[in-house]
This record gives sequence, C-alpha cells and structure tokens, in this order.
Amino acid sequence: MSDLYAQLVNSPVGSVVASKVGLPRPVRLDRHRPGDPLVDGAVLLGAATGGRLAGAIAKVLADADVKTSTTRERPLREAATAAGLDAALYNPESAGPERFKGLVFDASGIADSTDLVELQRFFYPVLGGLRRSGRVIVLGTPPAQAGSSRAATAQRALEGFTRSLGKEVGARGVTVQLVHVAAGAEDQLAATLRFLLSPRSAYVSGQVVEIGAGVAPIPQLDWQRPLAGRVALVTGASRGIGASIAATLARDGASVVGLDVPQAEQELAKVIGELGGETVALDITAAEAPRQIAERFAGGIDVVVHNAGVTRDRTLAKMPAKRWSELMEINLSSVERINDALLDGGLIGAGGRVVCVSSMSGIAGNAGQTNYAASKAGVIGMVRALAGELATRGATINAVAPGFIETKMTAAMPIATREVGRRLNSLSQGGLPVDVAETIAWFASPASTGVNGNVVRVCGQSLLGA
Ligand SMILES: NC(=O)c1ccc[n+]([C@@H]2O[C@H](COP(=O)([O-])OP(=O)(O)OC[C@H]3O[C@@H](n4cnc5c(N)ncnc54)[C@H](O)[C@@H]3O)[C@@H](O)[C@H]2O)c1
Repeated sequence: MSDLYAQLVNSPVGSVVASKVGLPRPVRLDRHRPGDPLVDGAVLLGAATGGRLAGAIAKVLADADVKTSTTRERPLREAATAAGLDAALYNPESAGPERFKGLVFDASGIADSTDLVELQRFFYPVLGGLRRSGRVIVLGTPPAQAGSSRAATAQRALEGFTRSLGKEVGARGVTVQLVHVAAGAEDQLAATLRFLLSPRSAYVSGQVVEIGAGVAPIPQLDWQRPLAGRVALVTGASRGIGASIAATLARDGASVVGLDVPQAEQELAKVIGELGGETVALDITAAEAPRQIAERFAGGIDVVVHNAGVTRDRTLAKMPAKRWSELMEINLSSVERINDALLDGGLIGAGGRVVCVSSMSGIAGNAGQTNYAASKAGVIGMVRALAGELATRGATINAVAPGFIETKMTAAMPIATREVGRRLNSLSQGGLPVDVAETIAWFASPASTGVNGNVVRVCGQSLLGA
C-alpha cells in the first residue's frame, strides 16, 4: 500500500515545505535484499568494564564478516582478538569521517547505577554520525539474574535508556533494542544479533529480547537458507501478512504449506503455487480441523505459524455474543486446539518452532476491540504458558505483535484513523507485511534455540502501550 504522505514530504518541493512547517519526514527504511551484506557499513563495539558478552558478540561479528571497530579498553580489544575479530581501533579524539551503521554495547558489566554513565560515554561521541537505518543494540543481563539489588537496579535502568534513545533517533530510521542474555546463553547470540543488526529488523524498535540457554543444540546452517529441509505451515496464507510470511520462509529454504479457508482456495493456490509449496483449504475453526492438520503432518512438522486472524470491531455495549465468539474461535481457541493436537501427537519435536501472531492491541488495548484485544492478549498468555513445555521437547514458541502494517485491512480505515496509526511511532510510518515476516523468520530459524517465550512488537516503536 502506498504512503502518499511520505512520498510527498520526501519530494524536492515537499521536503522544503515539510522542514519549514515542522512536519515529520519519515525516511525510507533499508530492507533486506538477497545477496546484500548483513550490515551495509561498519559497526562500533564497546563494553562497560567487567562485562561478559564482548567475546561472544565479537565472534558473531567475525563469523558474519562485519567490518568492526572497537573502543580502546584493553579487555575488550583482547576479547575481540581472541574471538577472531580483526577490529580497527576507534579513538573519538582522532576519529576521521567514519560514520557507523551499527553501535553495539555490552552493558552486562554495569552493576551499579553510578556505572550507567558508561552508556553516555560510549554513545555520546558517535550518535550524531550514526547512518540512516542504523542499528543500536545494548546487551545486558536479565535483572533477576544480576546477582545483587544494585546490579538488578542498574540492569533494569537499561530499558528506560534504550526505549528513550529509540524515540530520539527513530526519525533517521534508526532502531534501538535491549537484549537480555541469561547466564549460560552467551553462545546463543548469533541468530538474534544477525537479525537485529540487519535491515530485516527494519520496523522493530524499542524492544527487549530475552535470550536463554538453548533448548536444543544449534545445527550447522547456511545463513542464506537457514530453513532448508524444513516444513513450515502458515495459516491465513492466501493474502496480506500470511502471504508475505509464506514467501519469506520459502526464500529461507522452507517447504511451505499454506492454509486458508475453502473460499480463498483459488487465491491460496496462486500465492503458494508461485513458491512451489502445497496448500490446505480448511477453516481452522472446524471441529475436525485439529485432527486433519495432525494427520496432514503425521511425520512431524518443523515450523507452525498461526497467522490467520480477523477483527470484528464494535464497542462492548454493542457487541453480540456471536460476534465475540466467532472472533475468539479464529484468533485464539482454534489455535489452542491445533497446538494441543500437534503436541499430543508428538509432532513438534527437537528444533520445532511455533510462532503466533498477536497484535499491539493485545498489549495496549483499543476502543472497539475488546474481543480482538482479549484474543491477542490471550495469544501472549498462551506463548508464555507453553514455552516451558515446548522447551522440554527442544522446541520454542514465540509471538510477534504487529502495530500498523500497510495491508488491505489498514488501507480500508478512515483516513484520519489511518494517518494517526501510521505516524504515532518512532519511525513515523507504517510497517510492511515483510517486516512481520522477517521477524517470524528469525524466530523460525534453527539457530534461534535460545529465543523462547518472547513477544516482539513489530510496530516501529509505537507510542501506544508499554
Ligand atoms: N494488518 C495489520 O496491521 C495487523 C496488525 C496487527 C496484527 N495483525 C494480525 O496479523 C494477522 C494477519 O493479518 P492481515 O492483516 O494479513 O489480515 P488478512 O485479513 O489480510 O488475512 C487473514 C487471513 O486469515 C484467513 N482466515 C481468516 N479466518 C480463517 C479461518 N477460520 N481459517 C483459516 N484461515 C482464516 C483469511 O482468509 C485471510 O487470508 C492476523 O492475525 C491479524 O490479527 C495484523
């Protein structure tokens, strides 16, 4: 869907007018194109004194061939060298015109509120030169594991820092995240750092990602086609976000099975046929749907993406029970039944991935959407409730929570509502279906064994909700 406002304010005449009257000018976000390097430019790596993650971060950067500089602290330089990273030395006093595309800071050493100033010291000299669609990633320790109340306090403070910085730099298309790395999960950084550093995470900002010890060993994989040899089921795949998820998982090597209601069979066949995949025409709320799906994947299934979903908006005072139940059946109850059938049948095993689609409404709430928001908050509850059980099988379950995504659904909104939805986020624009799909592909990656029970918003850091 086209964003005419963004086109207008970025045209030669429009840009002059917009800057004169102070209108927001959303920048064009970098997005992944096959064959592009992971990061289109150099990354600066820094660390607070006493951190434990610099070596693990350096290893990911070295393996991914990312051009990297580090600040000059000796333990950081030594950790980088030991990890095989050939990093240049960055000295802010004598720095040339180098402008970074990514800033990565290991804050795990911050153990007291007085140490938080290390954030200011690292970021202050380099933020102004951070390039358009740049990336800022701060890594820390989950506060509950920080070891002392002082350390837990300081680690929790990182969240306010990253969320505020995201709001300061979003106008340049820059995204900012906090990654909590649990003790013993230092070897689990690759999939998450690669995703967050790359243009694949274009519309993800202001998030806190939790990385735990892996639920299964990470297999050897081709980062260009991490899903090669895997079978992925995508529900609601005939159009919109679901079609984009199917295409993105197929690009990553998966054999895709697209599912949609029988009425959408033709459209589904066209979309999935182009990807060389297979189709299932089925209403997920049908009584026999869980059994039929379990039978279709009797040999096991690697990736399940529960994307099918609907809205049936109306204020609660005007909401008939039928309208409530129809939506709840599609968005939540049928998803629970399908998961039960797959789990009871032992069809999701080691390396399995369940990915659900929640919504920002399920986090922030929305007038006219008590039914929708309840279903999408329920999806979050389900992810949290099942994460432990999935882990015992060597599998994971996570959810994306999209904000304003440019689809037929949002194009049909009244213009004022649409404009507010589009602009009220740090990037001042709507996301694209592919932004949701890329986030799902990260969860689905065989390398994401330490990413379990997460809910990540794909909302450009919407100003609504926490
Ligand atoms: N578009 C957005 O901005 C946005 C924002 C937040 C969350 N979401 C969520 O993303 C998901 C996809 O949304 P979309 O915008 O692409 O919607 P869409 O309406 O374009 O696509 C939904 C698909 O689900 C299918 N579907 C509906 N009921 C079904 C059933 N009973 N059985 C099988 N398939 C069924 C539809 O036929 C359709 O193909 C939904 O879960 C939605 O709630 C979307």
